[in-house]
Amino acid sequence: MRSAVGRVFVFLLLILGTFLWIGQAVTALTGGEKAAAGAVEVSPEGGETIFWGKGRCFTCHSVGDRGSAVRGPNQGVFGEKFPLPIGARAEERAKERSTKTGQNYVALDYLVESVADPGAYVVEGYKNEMAIVYAPPIALELKEIKAVLAYLQSQGGEVDLEAIEKPSEVSQKYYAKMAAAGRRGRR
Ligand code: HEC
Repeated sequence: MRSAVGRVFVFLLLILGTFLWIGQAVTALTGGEKAAAGAVEVSPEGGETIFWGKGRCFTCHSVGDRGSAVRGPNQGVFGEKFPLPIGARAEERAKERSTKTGQNYVALDYLVESVADPGAYVVEGYKNEMAIVYAPPIALELKEIKAVLAYLQSQGGEVDLEAIEKPSEVSQKYYAKMAAAGRRGRR
């Protein structure tokens, strides 16, 4: 009698174990929990994933021949309208911003400003209708935005991860603003 109960118990444990094992195998197969937690690396590759995914940038921006969105400026080289990709274009825009604001903008500052405060400089021929990507529903975290910045730099500019981590005062203020908005959104 005792051994019969024992055998049933062992049998049940085996079934439970099998289910747990299948569950883990499926989680591993589908990319695991890491992807769900949004762990992104601050790199052009990490940023590319955000640009064409969670960040929804691709719904308004194409990059050269990739994508078909035209609501926002192409971020690559495209026709006569876009002779410079955004990494290089940002240098030109930064000069304009320096003259206009009296502050010293470098290319990265222009990129940060474009995302943090799209209305500060509205590209000619476009409307001030870029999404606020650090607020819901897109709600990118600062780290994800930094990754996107690296991706934008990699389009014809110099990728400078150190500068992205320790940017100028102009950018730091915008970082603080985006991080604060993100915290509010997550509450
Ligand atoms: C709802 C549409 C929309 C989405 C989504 C969007 N943008 Fe934009 N973006 C625009 C428009 C329109 C402009 C041009 C007007 C302006 O300058 O604000 C623009 C301008 C820009 C510029 C300046 C381009 C230049 O030629 O100077 C950058 C950089 C940029 N967006 C990056 C991004 C990134 C990165 C994302 C995703 C995280 C994104 N945008 C998501 C619509 C969008």
